[in-house]
Amino acid sequence: MLQSIRIRGGVGLNGAVDISGAKNLALPALVTTLLTSESVTLTNVPDLADVRSLLGLLSHLGTDIKISDDKHTVTLQTKNLRDVVAPYDFVRKMRASILVLGPLVARHRMASVSFPGGCAIGTRGIDLHIKALRLLGADVKIENGYINAEAPGRLTGAEINFSIPTVTGTENSIMAAVLANGTTTIINAAMEPEIPALVELLNGMGARITGHGTSVISIDGVESLHGTSYEVIPDRIEAGTYAVAAAATCGKLILKNCNHGHLLSFFETLHAAGVACDATDDGVLAYRRSNELCAVDIQTAPYPGFPTDLQAQYMALMSLSTGTASITENIFENRFMHVPELCRMGANIAIHGKTAIVTGVKKLNGAQVMATDIRASVSLVIAGLAAEGETVVNRLYHIDRGYENIDEKMRNCGADVERISV
Ligand code: UD1
Repeated sequence: MLQSIRIRGGVGLNGAVDISGAKNLALPALVTTLLTSESVTLTNVPDLADVRSLLGLLSHLGTDIKISDDKHTVTLQTKNLRDVVAPYDFVRKMRASILVLGPLVARHRMASVSFPGGCAIGTRGIDLHIKALRLLGADVKIENGYINAEAPGRLTGAEINFSIPTVTGTENSIMAAVLANGTTTIINAAMEPEIPALVELLNGMGARITGHGTSVISIDGVESLHGTSYEVIPDRIEAGTYAVAAAATCGKLILKNCNHGHLLSFFETLHAAGVACDATDDGVLAYRRSNELCAVDIQTAPYPGFPTDLQAQYMALMSLSTGTASITENIFENRFMHVPELCRMGANIAIHGKTAIVTGVKKLNGAQVMATDIRASVSLVIAGLAAEGETVVNRLYHIDRGYENIDEKMRNCGADVERISV
């Protein structure tokens, strides 16, 4: 039965919220199990639908998985592979399944991964993943909806120059190059904090990688990797989402464990809009500095720019500002699906190509809404929390892909929300 979230708006979010481990690090971190026969233990793994999907795929491939009772510690060991095929059913649920491609070819010389189809937020090519693997010496063919990759022997170090920085493309390339013969240089690599975190994990397994966190990453291939333990970093996108929720509801929230340094450009924008996000000993304190919200223009950009994964939530906030903000989406071409739904709640937003012009309104009104991706859906929850009356956000499974226990976390901060089956 499908689940929805029912929100009675107008209640401030106050108190503290525990920020979970980062989804976008947990996914590639789990995949590192494919690079070694020894066991890898990850702590602070978020309990999310996307994590469960990936664990399903790894188990299908032959990984032995142990999950702690609280679900946050996962120990994985891939002594022998049962299969090198990532079937359509797994990849369909989650594009990030493509992350198994590089490690499978690196250690097992072969992989067959269902070609990720179009997705709700744009076409999202994987040409750069394929280009990188080919440069490293793999023979890659697209056949019958699958990416079939084969390497004659060990992959060979190469120079990979990305035309645009791609997060999972950089991760896939690093994980492919880590066991290659010789040195690989990735130019125009993505710099999102999840990349240096993944490299830290891989270096802990015996990899030799430098330059992570910059746009040029160098990987000296090694013959094998060993097991390790690693703690997943906090989820900066979840933290940013709760900061916006506090601001939208005139509340005051401590974002426990949030790494302030991972959200600098986002917090700068919020500051200009009238929202404080102060670093504290154990995280960040988010609250409105003034009664009124200023309209502040933004453009999404690769890290360290304004994150595309916080654009929808920020738009919900700007729909309550006292001016007009222009929000330009530069990363994905179809990432405004929340706009018509926000407008149904009384927001005043016009789309011109890749820019949304958001004219603030005095109040939003509750409505029945739904969206088709994680961040768009959560922006509707934020709008619902700030709105007058009742909002039901349908298709909660989108939110469950990327937000751990969102209803419980919000209830603990005073929100009037409940999960309902429809
Ligand atoms: C990752 C994040 C996602 C975030 C996005 C951008 C994970 C699991 N997901 O997605 O939450 O929204 O980064 O910060 O970490 N592109 C190509 N060809 C390719 C690869 C990418 O054209 O081979 C394009 C994409 O269409 C997009 C841009 O590059 O326009 C950036 O996408 P990318 O960084 O690859 O996003 P993901 O890694 O899929």
